[in-house]
Amino acid sequence: MPILTWIGKDKVVNHDKELPFRVLKPIKELSVGENSENLLIEGDNLEALKALMPFYYNKVKCVYIDPPYNTGNEGWIYNDRVNSSQIKTWLNKVVGLEGVDLCRHDKWLCMMYPRLKLLRDLLAEDGAIFVSIDDNEVHNLRIMLDEIFGETNFQAQIIVQSNKRGQTYKQLAKTHEYILCYSKSSKTKLFQLIAGDDHLPQQDGLGSFSSRELRNRNPKFGRFNRPNLFYPIYVNPNKKDKNGYSPMSLEKSDEYPIEVLPLNSRNEESCWRWGAKKLKENIENASTDVVFAKQKLTNEWRIFEKYRNASISAKTIWDETEMITEQGTTQLKLLGLREKFPFPKPVGLITKIIQLMGDSEGIYLDSFAGSGTTGQAIMELNKEDGGNRKFILVELEKEIAKDVTAKRLEKVAHGYEGALFPEGTDQGFEYLDLNGELYNQAGFVNPLAHYEDMAAYVYFTETNNYLDIPCIKNPYIGSQGTTSYFLFFEGKGNNILDEKTLKKTKEFEGIRVIYADKTLLDEEYLEKHNVVFKQIPYQLKKY
Ligand SMILES: C[S@@+](CC[C@H](N)C(=O)[O-])C[C@H]1O[C@@H](n2cnc3c(N)ncnc32)[C@H](O)[C@@H]1O
Repeated sequence: MPILTWIGKDKVVNHDKELPFRVLKPIKELSVGENSENLLIEGDNLEALKALMPFYYNKVKCVYIDPPYNTGNEGWIYNDRVNSSQIKTWLNKVVGLEGVDLCRHDKWLCMMYPRLKLLRDLLAEDGAIFVSIDDNEVHNLRIMLDEIFGETNFQAQIIVQSNKRGQTYKQLAKTHEYILCYSKSSKTKLFQLIAGDDHLPQQDGLGSFSSRELRNRNPKFGRFNRPNLFYPIYVNPNKKDKNGYSPMSLEKSDEYPIEVLPLNSRNEESCWRWGAKKLKENIENASTDVVFAKQKLTNEWRIFEKYRNASISAKTIWDETEMITEQGTTQLKLLGLREKFPFPKPVGLITKIIQLMGDSEGIYLDSFAGSGTTGQAIMELNKEDGGNRKFILVELEKEIAKDVTAKRLEKVAHGYEGALFPEGTDQGFEYLDLNGELYNQAGFVNPLAHYEDMAAYVYFTETNNYLDIPCIKNPYIGSQGTTSYFLFFEGKGNNILDEKTLKKTKEFEGIRVIYADKTLLDEEYLEKHNVVFKQIPYQLKKY
């Protein structure tokens, strides 16, 4: 397999391992709601991804990133941050003097390589990464991703038609960009789902399917300009299949007494996507079995189309209107944030990626978050299909994270005029920033680190697994095989392992690995009791 080399590569290949772990600090006044498990982190994604590692190693379902494309156009700051002062400082530190001579491609590759390695480690075995990119770096990125994810995990180079008219590009008008997609391993079911095996989220007598609302959600269409598509559908509420779907009819009767109209959440008249004739044929032809009604928790009825395998084959060219970059700008305009962030991705593009994962749960990570389109896509999709997906967003620039990303997520959570869900999506997020190193070998332990921070770190470095925080029973943090792990961490210097504190671990059989500031027990005693003592911070393992 060809391997890409560039100036500075040797300095960054192991940089992800050399970086110190940092502590994430929640900022309550910038957060919305409680216990949402959605995160917005302000800071450099290199440090943020490393800080997430003990909590999310091997756990993330899908990574979507839209990094700087490295256009060479320094004026276009958000899309082209390779020469930003933060990246320059970082390169000088990591690559050293050599860094001064790097060309823009070397710099971009140095910036991306350690970040992609961290993203790979965070991805679950059945996860996938999608990276937006254009002609400036697509060739380099593809070889680099081959190296990091493995050639055999390459899934697709998707062409996205990002605008219709085209921007002047050499002598041709450029109308597309790319998304590179790699799976973490052969366990990723992404493409089997698309090819049509049984991994679609719901099942019925005819096989597997996913569902999509029959109401046309585009506000440009409604009864006012599509009167033929506005008609009542009648539902039989007394019958429900195992997916909770009820049968329906176009005629009202005792059996079908409930009338459903295509109304949006503000009770305004929109319209169906299908005419009455097509709907009637589908209802009558039971074998196609494509439309059904479902009662939501709120008691209102909605009509759904069932997507069978054949109808959802994703193609590698995405040219739907929802993919056009301008749509992203219009969406930010509705949020009143148009002037604050240029060229956001359209929500529809990211929704399509999320839907490809075929899972209504899981963690979605965007470490070049910008205006937070990924967060909006997750919140809206959850609201629409009752899913429980979570997001983690990382944004470097404070002004963007605070004044654009957080504001956008807050509005999507609470609702705004013209929104898909004007009443809001009822999902919040926690705003965090990065707060210094967790520890260093000189004996420093961050006084702001919580018990969970150190516990997750210890467990992760010992077991290569993330810690299930609710299972912690201080000082017990978790077990793997016949070994159990303990942490005494209540203020520096106070944590002493002696006969009395050892009793707190006595119910555990097998080997007990115990972290504390010091021990008063000698080697012989520890060995006799199957205890391995490790001193914080000097004997903390490195990752
Ligand atoms: C092209 S924009 C992403 C736009 C985003 N997809 C959207 O729809 O709004 C890239 C973003 O990554 C951010 N960024 C650049 N380098 C970063 C880093 N090292 N860590 C975190 N964010 C970074 C930039 O500030 C910018 O907001």
